[in-house]
Amino acid sequence: MQLQFTEEQEQFRSKIREFCEREIEPRAVEIDCSDIYPWDILKKMAGEGYLGIPIPAEYCGLAKNSVSYVNAIEEISRVSASVGVIVAVHTSVSSLPILMFGTEEQKQRFLVPLAKGEMIGGFALTEPSAGSDAASQTTTAVREGDEYILNGAKSFITSGSEGGVIIVMAMTDTKKRHHGISSFIVEKGMPGFKYGVKEHKMGLMGSDTCELIFEDCRVPVENRLSDEGEGFKIAMASLDGGRSGIGAQALGIAQRALEESVRFAGAKDRSGAAPADSQAVQFMLADMATNITAARLLIYSAADMKDRKEPFTVNSAMAKLYAAQMARDVTIKAVQIHGHQGCTDRHIVERLFREAKVTEIYEGTNEVQRLVIAKRLLS
Ligand code: CAA
Repeated sequence: MQLQFTEEQEQFRSKIREFCEREIEPRAVEIDCSDIYPWDILKKMAGEGYLGIPIPAEYCGLAKNSVSYVNAIEEISRVSASVGVIVAVHTSVSSLPILMFGTEEQKQRFLVPLAKGEMIGGFALTEPSAGSDAASQTTTAVREGDEYILNGAKSFITSGSEGGVIIVMAMTDTKKRHHGISSFIVEKGMPGFKYGVKEHKMGLMGSDTCELIFEDCRVPVENRLSDEGEGFKIAMASLDGGRSGIGAQALGIAQRALEESVRFAGAKDRSGAAPADSQAVQFMLADMATNITAARLLIYSAADMKDRKEPFTVNSAMAKLYAAQMARDVTIKAVQIHGHQGCTDRHIVERLFREAKVTEIYEGTNEVQRLVIAKRLLS
């Protein structure tokens, strides 16, 4: 078996790489240093359709498959992981749940503007005391007539304060754990929907990460996604696709670290010597390339399984687990190869090193991916 892009996928890959190098690369350092949410870039991406890559044409998307989608996340993250995570969350865990579980009316009202990039989407599952154990939610949604009244808080929400809509999980029946969770499309500006702490992170500065607070937030019944009690399954099914996207983000970060390391190691000094003359450096480069290739196979095979409508939960978890660990190791090696310079902002590897770490944490930690994999092995 060989994983090979079709001609159309190759063309899409070249087009998006060219866009990223032209439009994002020149801004990547500034986005990282100054904590700017990159609205200007997102608007340009919207113009190319890149905020609706896997969304069907009838909802104004590009109608590409999952392989092309993860490819896009890899390419974007190769130049800016901040932009990569915004697009990944917007697409996999905000737009796609509406496509998979929304009514036709919800698709017209929310999915179409998301796919056109008229607004950015977010996803709110994590709470201050419910991260990996997602079923221990405490945010509540109590029905009153044609509305739900939401109370509680969500943490570390990507595009939390910039997003136009956020898919929010809340308990409609606190006694039923998983089966008591429902999903809501919460719109920016709804009464009682407030923003809390904005996080200052070690990497991905340009992506807004903040706390969301719901104080008697009134959400109309027509904004509930699917039936009451379906929220946990919606979240898990959305994360299945999201996890190979985050794996692709890790892959893009690592690929860039390898490219930079090969360039740096190959550069000769005045005496004609180069770091790559050392076998120690050669071995590091060889391990980096091997592990990147292994991660790439896992990621694209999980995406391909999704496209073929095969169960891919475990494969997506494996892809994210392996790719995130790989990106951490590859970026550590990249800094090592660059020596002192790698510990300064003179080289991008310092940023890549900071960006790689969170891929082991968000959309399910390494430990959560192991739980998902082990559960299927033992069932
Ligand atoms: N698809 C559909 N349904 C699923 C599913 C899936 N992939 N996985 C589980 N379910 C269903 C099960 O079938 C089960 O349903 P029934 O009760 O009807 O049988 C129900 O969900 C409960 O399943 P589990 O017993 O496996 O659930 P659990 O409590 O043991 O949870 C867990 C397992 C995998 C640890 C889960 O809690 C989890 O994924 N936690 C991590 C959450 C996470 O990834 N958070 C990241 C937040 S998003 C983020 O970071 C975004 C951002 O902004 C960057």
